[in-house]
Amino acid sequence: METGDIIQIFAESGFQVDPVALDILKTSSSPELIQKILSSIDSSVIVVGAEHIRSAPSSIPGMDGNGLTATTPELTIPVQTKSTARKLEAQPAQVTVLKDISNQSTCIGEYTDFVGYFKDRYTLLGDLLRKRISARPIESLKKRNMDTREPLSVIGMVLNKRTTAKGHRLIDVEDSTGTIPVLVHKEKDKELFEMAGSLLMDEVIGVTGTLSGDGSLMFANSVIRPDLPNSQIISIARENARGKAVFISDIHVGSKTFLEDAWLRFVDWLGDDIDYLIIAGDVVDGIGIFPGQDKELAILDIYEQYAKAAEYLNAVPRHIKMIISPGNHDAVRQAEPQPCFPERITRLFRSDITFVGNPAMVDIKGVKVLIYHGRSMDDIIAGTHGFSYGDPAKPMASMLRFRHLSPIYGGRVSIAPEKKDHFVIDQIPDILHCGHVHTVGVSRYKGVLMINSGTWQSQTEFQKRMNLEPMPGKATVVDLASMEYKINSFG
Ligand SMILES: [Fe+2]
Repeated sequence: METGDIIQIFAESGFQVDPVALDILKTSSSPELIQKILSSIDSSVIVVGAEHIRSAPSSIPGMDGNGLTATTPELTIPVQTKSTARKLEAQPAQVTVLKDISNQSTCIGEYTDFVGYFKDRYTLLGDLLRKRISARPIESLKKRNMDTREPLSVIGMVLNKRTTAKGHRLIDVEDSTGTIPVLVHKEKDKELFEMAGSLLMDEVIGVTGTLSGDGSLMFANSVIRPDLPNSQIISIARENARGKAVFISDIHVGSKTFLEDAWLRFVDWLGDDIDYLIIAGDVVDGIGIFPGQDKELAILDIYEQYAKAAEYLNAVPRHIKMIISPGNHDAVRQAEPQPCFPERITRLFRSDITFVGNPAMVDIKGVKVLIYHGRSMDDIIAGTHGFSYGDPAKPMASMLRFRHLSPIYGGRVSIAPEKKDHFVIDQIPDILHCGHVHTVGVSRYKGVLMINSGTWQSQTEFQKRMNLEPMPGKATVVDLASMEYKINSFG
């Protein structure tokens, strides 16, 4: 069996195959066996290794305990021809959940949980930065015999930032061994000075610079973020992706300002060419989300709000696969990451909908979509000069630069200290889909398509007071083969 064919079959199901597993499959596999292996692999697996083949219900005959074939048995060799490839394309839309907090929450919220949570963030993002700079532990900088003229690097979290009396920026950077203040001179490098001004609390950065004589202060030459690589390898699965996905969010069923007419026009428009409908939170308006909300509600019971939402969504054409994640108006815990809706809510909806947590990463026909409601945009917009609610693509690009969806602790996002930092963007998505700000913005950053999909609610009293102008009744359609998009209006 050809290597490319094996890779493609696994890629169609959202998996990569490691070289050892590929060697085993090349010499010893059958269509039945591959199906068995595929159905036995946990959806959280990204790269299929020999151990996954070994633990499949009916493993390859002759395979020894190390995952290597002791003999090469005679087996039927399936060749994926163009017609079988077309059959794969014609298959109904499928969803593979790659990352999701649902049913995996472990935190109690104790002090030690927070220590573990931030250590995990530092380790994951520090590893990305360590590929680009060779960093020392901060503690080691204070040793007396250091040559202070030689530039050196540290990797740490932004603990504090301030402006000195002379107008320079001073950033306190912390790693697990200590803290060092980093001075960014206002006249040395304008770009660096501006970048330092845009740093947010608790993001993980790499700093290169020289030390003061006693090693107590660092003078920055450069500051880097984990960021995305400049060029990305497009997976075979992504190259072969076919079909169309529609991205929406913030439906707010139950609110007096929910735009039913626009919604019904939208559902009516959903045709045979659409394979997926992806919803990034705030399915309903919720209850008690802000003071006085009850005056703005058309449906005062949370379960009745979901029953009405289910009525609207169950009317979506049957062939369209829906993926729904929650937002801050939905009836799940407010601390993020949020798990998917409980069974008491999901049972109101039709059974073919995939409910995921917030954030979550899914694979649709080889295209990786990272869904995050986007509450952290309140903090990122407030903390970054020149950002506004009218242009949501800017804070979304910041998330990709941070390689983190919600870096600031203690802001608008209440962060649950899970063992793993689920906000870290370790796998690079093809599409980042957010909502929350009720404005539409679609843009690309280093090959990632960023979609903020607006709302289905007209301006609320709260938004009037805040001078926020929503962009309701719009849906973004993406052609998964070309990654070209179109924003359709139903308002
Ligand atoms: Fe919303």
